[in-house]
Amino acid sequence: PPYGLSPPWYPSPKGGIAHTWAASYEKASKLVSRMTLPEKVNITTGTGWQMGLAVGTNGPAVHVGFPQLQLQDGPLGIRFADNITAFPAGITVGATWNRRLMYARGKAHAIEARGKGINVLLGPCVGPLGRMPAGGRNWEGFGADPYLQGVAGAETVKGIQSEGVMATIKHFVANEQEHFRQPWEWGLPHAISANIDDRTLHELYVWPFGDAVRAGVAAVMCSYNMVNNSYACGNSKLLNGILKDELGFQGFVMSDWLAQRAGVATALAGLDMTMPGDGLRWANGESLWGPQLTRAVLNGSVPVERLNDMVTRIVAAWYQMGQDDEAKFPRRPPNFSSWTDDRMGVLSPGSPSPQEEVVVNEFVEVQANHSIIAREVAAEGTVLLKNEGLLPISRQGLDESRLKTRRTIVERATGKLHSGKFKVGIFGEDAGPGNGPNFCKDRACNQGTLGSGWGSGAVEFPYLVSPVEALRKQFDDSKVELHEYLTNKPVLSGSNTTIDDLELCIVFVNADSGEGFAKWDNVRGDRPDLNLQSGGDDLIVNVASRCGGGSGDVLVVVHAVGPVLMEKWIELPNVKAVLLANLPGQESGNALSDILFGDTNPSGHLPFTIGKSLADYGPGGQVLYLPNGVVPQQDFSEGLYIDYRYFDKHNISPRFEFGFGLSYTTFNFSNLRVSSHRTKSPLPLPRPSPAAKPPTYPTAIPPKTQALFPANFRPLEKYIYPYLSSVDDIEPGPYPYPDGYSTAQPLSGAGGAEGGNPDLWGIYAEVTVNIRNDGPVAGAVVAQLYLEYPEKDGVDFPVRVLRGFDKLYLKPGEIGTAHFALTRRDLSYWDVQEQNWVMVTGLGTEGRCRVWVGESSRDLRVSGVW
Ligand code: NOJ
Repeated sequence: PPYGLSPPWYPSPKGGIAHTWAASYEKASKLVSRMTLPEKVNITTGTGWQMGLAVGTNGPAVHVGFPQLQLQDGPLGIRFADNITAFPAGITVGATWNRRLMYARGKAHAIEARGKGINVLLGPCVGPLGRMPAGGRNWEGFGADPYLQGVAGAETVKGIQSEGVMATIKHFVANEQEHFRQPWEWGLPHAISANIDDRTLHELYVWPFGDAVRAGVAAVMCSYNMVNNSYACGNSKLLNGILKDELGFQGFVMSDWLAQRAGVATALAGLDMTMPGDGLRWANGESLWGPQLTRAVLNGSVPVERLNDMVTRIVAAWYQMGQDDEAKFPRRPPNFSSWTDDRMGVLSPGSPSPQEEVVVNEFVEVQANHSIIAREVAAEGTVLLKNEGLLPISRQGLDESRLKTRRTIVERATGKLHSGKFKVGIFGEDAGPGNGPNFCKDRACNQGTLGSGWGSGAVEFPYLVSPVEALRKQFDDSKVELHEYLTNKPVLSGSNTTIDDLELCIVFVNADSGEGFAKWDNVRGDRPDLNLQSGGDDLIVNVASRCGGGSGDVLVVVHAVGPVLMEKWIELPNVKAVLLANLPGQESGNALSDILFGDTNPSGHLPFTIGKSLADYGPGGQVLYLPNGVVPQQDFSEGLYIDYRYFDKHNISPRFEFGFGLSYTTFNFSNLRVSSHRTKSPLPLPRPSPAAKPPTYPTAIPPKTQALFPANFRPLEKYIYPYLSSVDDIEPGPYPYPDGYSTAQPLSGAGGAEGGNPDLWGIYAEVTVNIRNDGPVAGAVVAQLYLEYPEKDGVDFPVRVLRGFDKLYLKPGEIGTAHFALTRRDLSYWDVQEQNWVMVTGLGTEGRCRVWVGESSRDLRVSGVW
């Protein structure tokens, strides 16, 4: 199709082709075949905004025993709930590069979900990917690279689903900015269209969703925006073609909240569940499905088969997670309410109808020992960016000899004698508690220390250990004197002898952003720039010039939703160390002191590039802040060249490159070996025939009368039911189907099983590298594998792309082996003509890839070819 237009892809592939889901589909088909039309419709449609206690609840199929599903945000904890854990955000998890922690956080999150009565978690988030570094929600995901996003997303899905909770991978796809993500927040008639070419779509934006599908994810949330001028939740190419045929997705697609923009068309395009159920507006009680879907099935505009497939997918996902086990998943509402903190309340606060008050908040404590994992992730997700002999420091300050040298320098500079306790200053609002972590609704303001971004991806913090609180406890006060300046105001003007005497100044700065429904200061979801907020730059420069009379040591700690510019201060001589703590969640201060005092050797690495300016990210890296049309058009014309791929292609020096991170020790890389497991060939093996057959049901349109409200039914106002009050006017079609509906699409050669053609996941080469800890202390190395594609006429390749990572803990002197398994997909590119993943092959040395392994995308130590 022409650029910016989405081709049709019909009919919607039925679920039930994968052997991994066969048993669940079998059970589902038995249940679904006993359901009436309204019961089926009920399962596909939310009951309306605030009609249940969770942020989303669909309808039950009562007489066959299928319960309402309770859906709750979000990716870093249970939103709107008490007694839960505020885990570090996705971006912090990405910065750990630690698969074990990714999995463990997902699992702990799901244990809390289950304890609160939640069936479906609305996370993890792997889109936005981070095309634009100022994008408001990048922090909910794991970093600006599809491989890293994919691994982290898949590990999180596996962790969540190991507890029987359904994970939802979101937002499918290309919801890269908040501005114009949907119409109503921005006063527009339509949402933005992300225009993406087929290859880029596959190699960047869809890639991590492929990993999640391969990991067995139960649900996919389609996004608000359009992709190639077709709403993502009604885009048949995306949902039917790519997700369900090519990736072989077996679960169900739910809409983002009000992202469904049409009724019949979205059903045909592959949407399976609409959330929260209301149609084009919040809480108006009018659904695009619900009774309208009932009507559409009765009049033949939505085939009965399609409805059966929607329902079967949802019910199969429920069985797949073992949620039919009532002991584990009691069939009742959640034990907390998203809408009130009071014990008593109504079950459907969105309805004006009078209702009986019941206990809605039981205040069930579900945190167990999850603070341990939260703290571990926060510490490992802290990236040491600069360290000129300053860190780690001891709880007594500096050791005697370092202290002596320092004091001589300071005494020379200030002409004053220095003795007594080691003097430490803590600067910045971001060091302290501010007005408490939950001061603003949905965390939509930047005050106090920054633990998360804002929006549906945030939670009510049960507590937030601020840096200053932890440092007060940790420093030995018989040896160290702490001075606190918990403000960004220029307290440092004029003479201030205490500041002149400080030997170490720790400055806390930050940058916040969030979901587009809220704004803070000039941050409307997306950041307007990459600067530190609330005067952070000035604060650092100011403190650096005054600390110890200008020669005290300065440590900068940054809490941020993504990259921030550091040019104003990074090279100041007394800025000796910089830590990027990302978004640490509730354990912020504790995790920071783990790193500061060397209890944990830093091993976080950047999940994005820190450029020297926003312009350095290129035209594609810029948020579209002003609508450029009735449907704002955003051309992703940079194609594959985002983040480090852009910097590398254009030879731009970043301040800190993707993958960068220092340690208190050093690592030596040697002996890279490549072993070949399978022979190269351009195309994967032919698509396998399906391992199982989707269930079949009678296709006759059910009798109209099934759809009527049951006798003596007392509906709640605005609540969405599947029933109709009259069916007299319903006449069957014929109705025109969308273009391309009657020309069945050829099935994708890249498809055939859950996650796609299994050969794409076959391991073709393995790489190992020896790594020795050369330094004085134990630590973890993140070995990163970057692939350089061979040359091929007419095909443009990024300089190199991440295709593996392995994190090893090594004691001083210890040697370990990093392992990387390269799949066919890892070694291929998406060929638009072939409509498949293609490996470059050739004779002799032609067609060989080069693999590099090192500690960042630019610190490449050893290489080999395959
Ligand atoms: C809209 C957000 O985009 C999505 O991430 C979230 O899950 C839903 N709202 C429900 O809160």
